[in-house]
Parts: sequence; C-alpha cells; structure tokens
Amino acid sequence: MAPGATLVIMSRSEAPPVKDTAATGDLLDRLLAGLPGDAVLTDLDVTASYANDMASFCPAGAPAVVVLPRTVEQVQHVMRTATALRVPVVPQGARTGLSGAANASDGCVVLSLTKMDRILEINPVDRIAVVEPGVINAALSRAVGEHGLCYPPDPSSWEMCTIGGNIGTASGGLCCVKYGVTAEYVLGLDVVLADGRLMSTGRRTAKGVAGYDMTRLFVGSEGSLGIVVRATLALKPQPPQQLVLAAEFASGAAACDAVCRIMEGGHVPSLLELMDRTTVRAVNDLAHMGLPESTEALLLAAFDTPDPAADLAAVGALCEAAGATQVVPADDAAESELLLQARRLSLTALEAVKGVTMIDDVCVPRSKLGEMLEGTERIAEKYQLTIGIVAHAGDGNTHPTVCFDAADPDESRRARESFDEIMALGLELGGTITGEHGVGFLKKEWLAREIGPVGIEMQRGIKQVFDPLGILNPGKLF
Ligand code: LAC
Ligand code: ZN
Repeated sequence: MAPGATLVIMSRSEAPPVKDTAATGDLLDRLLAGLPGDAVLTDLDVTASYANDMASFCPAGAPAVVVLPRTVEQVQHVMRTATALRVPVVPQGARTGLSGAANASDGCVVLSLTKMDRILEINPVDRIAVVEPGVINAALSRAVGEHGLCYPPDPSSWEMCTIGGNIGTASGGLCCVKYGVTAEYVLGLDVVLADGRLMSTGRRTAKGVAGYDMTRLFVGSEGSLGIVVRATLALKPQPPQQLVLAAEFASGAAACDAVCRIMEGGHVPSLLELMDRTTVRAVNDLAHMGLPESTEALLLAAFDTPDPAADLAAVGALCEAAGATQVVPADDAAESELLLQARRLSLTALEAVKGVTMIDDVCVPRSKLGEMLEGTERIAEKYQLTIGIVAHAGDGNTHPTVCFDAADPDESRRARESFDEIMALGLELGGTITGEHGVGFLKKEWLAREIGPVGIEMQRGIKQVFDPLGILNPGKLF
C-alpha cells in the first residue's frame, strides 16, 4: 500500500458481480449442468469460510458459490459459464497465501482446485512428475522420495499448501538458497483459459526454447491469466540427509556478516536461515523448543553434501570469525529436523504474539542484508511496534513481521505505516517488495512503484490478452 493509503474493499469495476438472486440462480443452474451437486457449495457459512487466504487483514468479499471440480472438463465448464455470465472467478489452493491473492470478491465463483489432487506420473528417467494442481507439496515430496527423487521447493506451509498455489504465487522456501524457487521446477502446464479453452505450455524435455516462455509467465501470475489444471515438474535426485548447525550472535549485524562470509567463501548451504530474538522467543512461547533466548540472532545453516559435518565445521569457523557467541552443530538428523521445525513455526509463533501479523517479504541483494535488518529495527523503534524478523538469509529474503492488535486503531495504523516503510527500504537497497509471497491485494500499489508505469502498462496488456473480460481474480496485482 502506498504510504497513507487505507485498506479498501477491492474494486469490483473490472467484472461486475452477480447482483440479484435471479442471476445467482441462473449461475447455479448453469454450473450444475456440468458439475456434480456435491461440487457446488452454496451454504453461506461454508462459502464464507472460503473468503480468505492467510492475509486475514486484507478485505474479502462474499463468494456467490464455491466450486470444487475434479476434472479438467469441469474446470472448462466453470470458465465457460463465468465467461457467459461475466462472473469473476477466484482460483484457490489451500489458501495458505500471505498477500490476499486468493481472497474472494463479492459475488464471485471461488474455484477451489483442492479436489484435483492426483499425482499422474513420476518418471525417474526423465526426472519429472506430472501432477494436478491440488496435490499437497509435502505429499509430492514423499511420493517422489520413494523413487529416490526430490521436488525441492519447500515453503514453510509445505504440509498444507498445494502445487497449484505454489505455482500461482511462485513460492520459495527454505532450501531455495541451493535449489532455487518454484519457477525453476515448472517445465510445462495445462491451463484452462478464461473462455474455457485448454492451452498447453512448455515441455517435458530437459530443454526446450520453442517460442515465448509461457510457462514462466504463468508462474506467479496469481490466477489472473488462467487456471492451471496440470503441471509437469522437474525433479532432482534426492540429496543426502542434511545436517543443521545453529549459531548464536550478539547482533543481527554480526549474523549478516557471517552470511556474507559464507557466501563469499563459495559455500553452498542447503539452507541458511535467520531468526531474531523476538522470533526465537515467540517460537519458544508457542512450542517450548528450548531455543536460546539470550541471543539477538540465531543463524541456521545446513549442508546436504556427502560430508556435511566437514562443511558445517568450515561454516562454523566463519560464524565464529564474524563474532558468533556459540556454534552448535546438530548431532544427527533428528536434532536437525527439530531446528527446522522451530524455523517453520516462526510465522505462526509471531502471529500468537498479538493476534495478527503483517508479513513483509522484502528480498534484497544479500550483501545488503545487514542494512535491511538494521533499518527494520529502526522502523520498529520509530513506530513502537514489535517486528519479528525471520529471513531466508542466504537469499537476502527477509520476512519482517509486524505483530499488532487489530482491535487497536492506532496500533493498526502504525503497523500499516511500518509495513510500507519496510518495503520502501527494500526498494532503496536495490531489492524487491516480494521475494516469494506475491503481490495479491496487499502490495498492489507497491508493484506499481517497483516496476514503474511502463512495466504496469505492459503487464496490463498481457492480462488483456488472456482475460479480456477481466473475470480472472479481478482486483489483484494491479
Ligand atoms: C516462511 C514463509 C512465511 O518463510 O515464507 O516461513
Ligand atoms: Zn519465506
């Protein structure tokens, strides 16, 4: 949001909602002509429960209906119906997104892809999996693991989030510092277009440069260009079990210095995460993990190399050179997993501090990480707020998380202003407003700031080609 802007109910101008009951009746009749009865939900309490993703403070409208198709043909039917009646469609996965991209607009069809959850193929020779969009990330990881393969992108919500949602928001995760983000694993897609046509993009080959890279365009498009109904994903051989080291620092700056030394030293950790003191305390409060609370910053580094202990020793020495007060390598996989669990719990734990959080997702060049942390601390001080910092430090991707009481108007205002100031700082440092959570509703004005008027004009042009009636997830992105 631009400084001073207030949250408003999203614009409905791009696609008028179904306004009256006769129109809703027509919509339902038409939907039911191509969908089984149990795939069309109209109970108000039930439809209301599909209104939000995890950005609960973003406004959301009331869906006219929630549909849960099981086949590509059913999705095509939904889109043909929506086009015929000019009804907005909001695609959803598990609604674990953090930017309001999956929030309903008034009178929309919520198109939940969660029932399309089949893994259609795992091919160890081609090193690919072909999946439907509702497959849970962790379920895919486990399934390909049985073939000695891995699907690396691992958002913290991996036990809940869907591959379709991961593609929609271009999700990252903890292992991206070594293995990259979702975009690097999506080889091809089947997409139902706004008018119901089916389009295939990309390939299932190891390489391919035929025409524009439409696959990449869809990754991170937040349901604004079409509905992903099938994805061909690249897999990697399963690496050895990773071992984690925890290093404590007396300041965020010292921890960031260690990150720079590790990356400059040519190391390739499979994970390099930072939790500040506020986050460590919040995790202890929530889950009694016994993390060291006296520390200002906790750095977790991991290696999944053939000799992780040796790599951890080298990185431990670099942490000590940067001023680490204590360096503790995990003894085994179980201890490593506990540390990762603590990290994955961070956002949930910070939410428990005051009830609501606004989670920034600013990614800066990693050489600027120290300045980003220092600036965030200044902003927390200025606005007298608790802002916990958790970061994919190896990627320069920070999640300064503003904890606030939504019932307190002044605190809410300060939370919004600090949230904006953090994004402004990220841009000043040569970063981006979102490393992995997307724009959604939350950062619309900030997308415009980051890419400028020409960039916005070209993106709108692309949107117009795919969605001339403006029915696909209206009011998001720009
Ligand atoms: C994480 C999510 C919030 O890093 O991106 O835990
Ligand atoms: Zn993250």
